[in-house]
Amino acid sequence: MRVVIQDDYEKMSKWAADYIAAKINAHKEDRPFVLGLPTGSSPIGVYKELIKKNKAGELSFKNVVTFNMDEYLGLPREHDQSYWYFMHDNFFDHIEIPAENINILNGMTDDPEGECARYEEKIASYGGIDLFMGGIGVDGHLAFNEPYTSLTSRTGLRDLTTDTRIVNSRFFGGDPEKVPAQALSVGIGTVTDAKEVLVLISGHNKARALAATVEGSVSQKWTCSALQMHNGAIIACDEAACGELTVDTYKYFLDIEKKERL
Ligand code: GLP
Repeated sequence: MRVVIQDDYEKMSKWAADYIAAKINAHKEDRPFVLGLPTGSSPIGVYKELIKKNKAGELSFKNVVTFNMDEYLGLPREHDQSYWYFMHDNFFDHIEIPAENINILNGMTDDPEGECARYEEKIASYGGIDLFMGGIGVDGHLAFNEPYTSLTSRTGLRDLTTDTRIVNSRFFGGDPEKVPAQALSVGIGTVTDAKEVLVLISGHNKARALAATVEGSVSQKWTCSALQMHNGAIIACDEAACGELTVDTYKYFLDIEKKERL
């Protein structure tokens, strides 16, 4: 695992965007580059940087296919808190990407099982995900894989914990009851099947989750810890998120990342 520690959120976002752009630009195969994407406040800075690169002509998304991590069950696309809305508002509407290259789970489906099975099949039809970018919740959830979700889980229906509904209520007028109780989400196994996984962890409130991801035992209590079993996992974080790391761990990653590398 690489842990790339940057001074602050802006630098973390810039680093991650440079990394993603370099990977897309280095992709010379005929088949599209397959990119997994998250929602939340963590990736907004990365999306802004990627938009800038696209507008500057430094990065094209014409040969990129995207798969989003998750979607609330029961929210229509037009709802301003649906992840479909979030992704278009913060990213897709500002870049040149063919609409047919965008994949987001349908939260209005009346057949969640079939919808999730089709999603897995579609990912497989492209030969899997090249790079999955993610964020994590304060309880370490990756996509909507809450504590105690199997570390080999696939795309499916998830119940949100009360904690997550309280945390996400900031987007629903502060009322946890207004946050959908269920979501469709890729599984931990779906994420770790990607060739590379890049997870953004920023801010003091994520310090425990970062420590669990990097130093904790591999455990379904912290689903983010599954990244320890992945050969191409990168954590991009900021100083504020490092508060719970041991000094040794912190120094080790700063030390080995000193060399200029992407
Ligand atoms: C939600 C999403 C996750 C996201 C998490 C963290 O619960 N389902 O995919 O990583 O929030 O969000 P934020 O980046 O806003 O802290």
